[in-house]
Amino acid sequence: MARLNDNYLKLKAGYLFPEIGKRVREFTLANPDAKVIRLGIGDVTQPLVPTILKAFHEGVDDMGRVETFHGYGPEQGYDWLANTVIDKSFEPLGVELKTSEVFISDGSKCDTANILDIFDISNKVAICDPVYPVYNDTNVMVGRSGEADEHGYYEGLVYMPCTAENNFSPAYPTEKVDLIYLCYPNNPTGTVASKEQLAGWVDYALKNEAIILFDAAYEAFITEPGIPHSIYEIEGAKKCAIEFRSFSKTAGFTGVRCGLTVIPEELTATDAAGNQVSLNKLWNRRQGTKFNGVSYPVQKAAAAVYSDEGWAQVKEVVAYYLENARIIRENLVAAGIECYGGVNAPYIWLKTPEGMGSWEFFDKLLNECHVVGTPGSGFGPSGEGYFRLSAFGSKDNVEEAVRRIREKWGKE
Ligand code: MLT
Repeated sequence: MARLNDNYLKLKAGYLFPEIGKRVREFTLANPDAKVIRLGIGDVTQPLVPTILKAFHEGVDDMGRVETFHGYGPEQGYDWLANTVIDKSFEPLGVELKTSEVFISDGSKCDTANILDIFDISNKVAICDPVYPVYNDTNVMVGRSGEADEHGYYEGLVYMPCTAENNFSPAYPTEKVDLIYLCYPNNPTGTVASKEQLAGWVDYALKNEAIILFDAAYEAFITEPGIPHSIYEIEGAKKCAIEFRSFSKTAGFTGVRCGLTVIPEELTATDAAGNQVSLNKLWNRRQGTKFNGVSYPVQKAAAAVYSDEGWAQVKEVVAYYLENARIIRENLVAAGIECYGGVNAPYIWLKTPEGMGSWEFFDKLLNECHVVGTPGSGFGPSGEGYFRLSAFGSKDNVEEAVRRIREKWGKE
């Protein structure tokens, strides 16, 4: 009889977003007339902008002509897309990268999960708490943890609490760790790291021979000057960090699928014999074996994000979501609710009113306001008592949602 991977049985609940989806489906079945507003999962709602759509169509048309047809592409992505990303997205930050250091993929969720393939199971992993659940769950799946305790902390993983008390800026781990996940702008708290804070992490990683897995999926939402968009803006980061980027939130690609991972050639880890080995080479080998690249029309569409026209259009959509974030934040604050994030990120992280538990607030918000959000505790034990609202809805829906929330909880 085939044996399953027992590590999967350690995972306590269903993955957070399907669980929310299930509760919302049950509610809508029981209340078919309720106008439910979804501000839960960070899924974009605005269509692809015209320049991207045109490039996407052209890519599809190319596939219909023998002269321009594309079969398997390079597993690492087409050079023209990698070079465009380097020129338009990294060079303006003063970051120089080689084409071979950029790996185009079908999204950063997959990459942040798959990257574990190239690291030994013995590595000690540190994650923030609360955290994007993928970092936690994929480490459990590969067997890097024991069971979860009564709080939801898995034995063997190192958690770095991020709460209002420490300004959502985690303290360095007190034990030796090898891999550190950081996500800035942060999902779920919507907070950012300053250059000094990131420099602190780079310094820490270099001193402790650790590698930072830096998720920059939300960098396009940074509005304040001086906040780093890439970890490679910090000196020394190429020796200790892998960066993940995504077109999902930047350009509305959640349903299109495209992202990228940067692994500098100088980044190494040790093999069993203590030799320093290039992680870039290992990832290249991994992708060549397990991945067949992103489809040509999708990469054409992704390249169009960085054309002058495309970028101007994309920035407008980002500004639209950030305006939603402002509306949510200001209205909740006016209702006396403590809020964080939402300035350089599309997420608002709020303290649940009246000291309610996260899921208690989820149910109340759904049942009484017909608004869906994400319970903070779903992102980790330190998220208990917090709640996340996404700014990716339509403006009308966001306005209606905050009106309902103010009516229910506002003191005015
Ligand atoms: C979220 O809501 O946290 C994100 O949409 C999840 C994701 O990007 O996979």
